[in-house]
Amino acid sequence: MARTTIGIVLNGVTGRMGYRQHLVRSLLAIREQGGLPLPDGRRLWPEPVLVGRSETKLREIAQRHGLTEWTTDLPAALARPDVQIYFDSQVTAQREKALRLAIEAGKHIYTEKPTAEDLAGAVELARLADASSIKHGVVQDKLFLPGLRKLDRLVRGGFFGRILSVRGEFGYWVFEGDWQTAQRPSWNYRAADGGGITVDMFPHWHYVLEQIFGRVATVAAHVTTHVPHRWDEAGERYDATADDAAYGIFEIERPGQDGRIVAQINSSWSVRVYRDELVEFQVDGTEGSAVAGLRNCRIQHRASTPKPVWNPDLPATEDFRDQWQVVPDNEEFDNGFKAQWELFLRHVVVDEPYSWDLWAGARGVQLAELGLRSAREGRRIEIPDLDAGQA
Ligand SMILES: NC(=O)c1ccc[n+]([C@@H]2O[C@H](COP(=O)([O-])OP(=O)(O)OC[C@H]3O[C@@H](n4cnc5c(N)ncnc54)[C@H](O)[C@@H]3O)[C@@H](O)[C@H]2O)c1
Repeated sequence: MARTTIGIVLNGVTGRMGYRQHLVRSLLAIREQGGLPLPDGRRLWPEPVLVGRSETKLREIAQRHGLTEWTTDLPAALARPDVQIYFDSQVTAQREKALRLAIEAGKHIYTEKPTAEDLAGAVELARLADASSIKHGVVQDKLFLPGLRKLDRLVRGGFFGRILSVRGEFGYWVFEGDWQTAQRPSWNYRAADGGGITVDMFPHWHYVLEQIFGRVATVAAHVTTHVPHRWDEAGERYDATADDAAYGIFEIERPGQDGRIVAQINSSWSVRVYRDELVEFQVDGTEGSAVAGLRNCRIQHRASTPKPVWNPDLPATEDFRDQWQVVPDNEEFDNGFKAQWELFLRHVVVDEPYSWDLWAGARGVQLAELGLRSAREGRRIEIPDLDAGQA
């Protein structure tokens, strides 16, 4: 079968996301299945060019996976004519300038979120990319999770009737790093290095809410740093200058529905899990409700809704969790990162439609920026539409 090779610079491939999700679970998984099938029968073969700061780490990753192309020289990688796509999963603070270089080099862009540290930077990137006619995409992996795919299916199928509210609970305890090592990198807790849970998670919540429910119209957030000191990768104690918990309320305008949906989402790295999954969304509508996690989704229809009566003098007599019904898979779900890579690759090579672009990424950055402003100023903020003529 004819094979077409596409060169992809992977910058930040030594990091958690770059290595595990994007290289191993996505691009190498595509190679393991013989390449990505294209509509004309060809197979697209991704050829990673690993880019990073440490020769030793890059060489080690390349050798482990039988790859030959790696360099610490980003401009040289971008100058290669066999490279068509630049992918960025570096720490957030390094992203914008690298994306600009790649756009200038005429490469298509695929990138982790947040696309930039502030809205002005994110909008400028989207404008520059449009102006140079390259294709661009931003990782929106949560949309491809089985639990959220099932939730989306319920919404599109009209299960909920009028949707009233969304309650999201995300988080887990991230160890401080002293008596047990932290399971997230320390830059996440330093504002100067692009850390903070608001800039990390609000871009995710933006695309989840926008894609499944409708336009995010307002934000009101309370943001805090619950754990003030942590210990870094070298065991050194440092001040946590970035927020580790964000409590957000968002109003959503849903096309064809009167009244805004109220979404409340708690995001925290300082919370212990008493849930079935690390993120869960409960959606309540006039006709039914659902609770969706990463993998699972349960529903309760109006007709099977019990009628609990408040009486604190008596112990609970019902098992409320038992009163929900499991939504079946009804399809196979691939790794979410891989599924989105495949869509982006087909967008680049055979021009299939793709909507999760740098403008979508900028709207996520906008929500984070306005969420932080809302918290600082103690008020709810309307979210203006972004378009190419406005920053
Ligand atoms: N889509 C998701 O679900 C998801 C989840 C976690 C993180 N992310 C995003 O992915 C990006 C990377 O996060 P991660 O958790 O993989 O981080 P990480 O610390 O594990 O990896 C960061 C990478 O950036 C590189 N880097 C380049 N310049 C650097 C510098 N000056 N200081 C430190 N590292 C530098 C590192 O070498 C490494 O390859 C972030 O932008 C983050 O917001 C996305």
